[in-house]
Order: sequence, then structure tokens, then C-alpha cells
Amino acid sequence: MAHRTTVYNAYQKLAEQYAALIETKPHNAYYERPAMMKMWPDLEGKKVLDAGCGPGLYAEKLLERGAIVTAFDISERMMAEARKRVGDQADLRLVDMTQPLEMFRKDQFDFINAPLCIDYVKDWRSLFKEFKRILKPGGLFQFSCGHPAFDAQYYNTSKYFDVEHVQCTWTGFGIEVVMPSYRRSLQDIFMPLIDNGFQIRQVVEPLPTVEFKKNDFRRYLSLVQRPAFLCIQSECLI
Ligand SMILES: C[S@@+](CC[C@H](N)C(=O)[O-])C[C@H]1O[C@@H](n2cnc3c(N)ncnc32)[C@H](O)[C@@H]1O
Repeated sequence: MAHRTTVYNAYQKLAEQYAALIETKPHNAYYERPAMMKMWPDLEGKKVLDAGCGPGLYAEKLLERGAIVTAFDISERMMAEARKRVGDQADLRLVDMTQPLEMFRKDQFDFINAPLCIDYVKDWRSLFKEFKRILKPGGLFQFSCGHPAFDAQYYNTSKYFDVEHVQCTWTGFGIEVVMPSYRRSLQDIFMPLIDNGFQIRQVVEPLPTVEFKKNDFRRYLSLVQRPAFLCIQSECLI
């Protein structure tokens, strides 16, 4: 089955459980989200795009910061969950970010937030070119992704330098789902940003919080030894 179809089917299947668990699932609630939100700039009155928004928890947090929020996802069921959460406070769209983002204008946004969603996209150069087009000069693009050191070991790769199609089976949301994604090297994370004229502002290899330790001590120990995610904030220079 094509990569896009497998990802779409996986998130359609997961949407309800994902929405139910995301507020307290340790890897999201006590690890990735605190690290991403700590990097956020002042968002009051800013036009923000939440890419791959899933069930809309990030969109809700962005609204709480006073942002004017547009959010998109490829999955209708995720969109329905996002709608339940934020109603019509955000402009919610069904968008596949592997395609040109023609629905958005040049210089439309001050900030793009893309947490844990771009690992499903093979061609980051084209995606970042589109993000740059729709960001205002001086706007920020921030994302989180699999950490290349973690992923290389987890997938036991012998093709570190490839943008490699990988898959694993998720069981953490209460149902079994085969989840494909793209694993890539450190240079293939940074160079598509740099080649598109983004300047790196912050790089964070998150540490799990105290709440994580209380909730899942075994995985806490693993994450203090080796990070699973990488968070990057970059600025669109021109
Ligand atoms: C791990 S979830 C993250 C959801 C949300 N960003 C969060 O952190 O809570 C990944 C999301 O990316 C979406 N996604 C995957 N491929 C996509 C694509 N090509 N275009 C738009 N959304 C996509 C999935 O449907 C899913 O909702």
C-alpha cells in the first residue's frame, strides 16, 4: 500500500483514542509538548498555522496564548476531534502537506507550529519551501521530529544516510496500528532548513519532566539516557 494511504488509514483508525489519551500520554504531555511550548514566542494576536494538528490540543493551547489559529490535518477523523475541542475558534482545514499548500497565501503567517507530523513527509525541501512562502519575513517555523540518534538505533538501520522509509507497530493508544514514517540523518534534518533560507534559532533535545517520572519510571530512565525527539525553531530570514 502507498505510504500516504497507510499513514492516513493509521490516523483515521487512531483518531478517537489519540484524542482521548493525548492530554496525559507521557511522551506527549510530559516530554515533547513542554519542550515545544517553552520555545514558543509571544503569540498574542499572531497568525499561526498548526500543521498536522491531529485532535487539536496544540491548536487549543495556541488559542489560549491569544493566537489567531489555522490548523490542518490529512485525517477527517482527527479533524472531527479537533472540531470537538476548539469548535469554530480556529480555521480547521483538511490538507495534505505532501502537496503544494495553495490554499494559503504568501506571507500569511507569523508562526508555523509542526509537532510530530513531518516525519510522515519524505521531501522536506519542498515542504519547507512552501512553509517559507506562507511565512512572513522574520516569521518562525518550529517543529519536533524523531531524534536521528534514537531512530537509527530503534530501526537498527544500515542506511543512516538515506531518507529511509521505516515502520513500527504502535500499541500505546490501546489498539494496534502499523505506523510508517521517514527516518533521516542529522544533515537531512538541518540542510533543508538552511538551503531554504531559514536560520536556526533554537535546538532542544528534550528531557522528560518530573510528571513523566511519576507516570512511567522505566521510560523516564530511558529518556534521560537517550533522547527520542528533537525540537527545532527556525526563523524565515527573507
Ligand atoms: C503524531 S500526530 C501529531 C498530532 C499533533 N501535532 C500533536 O502533536 O498532538 C501526527 C499527525 O500528522 C498528521 N499527518 C500525517 N501526514 C500528514 C500529511 N501529509 N498532511 C497533513 N497531516 C498529516 C496525522 O494525520 C496526525 O494527525
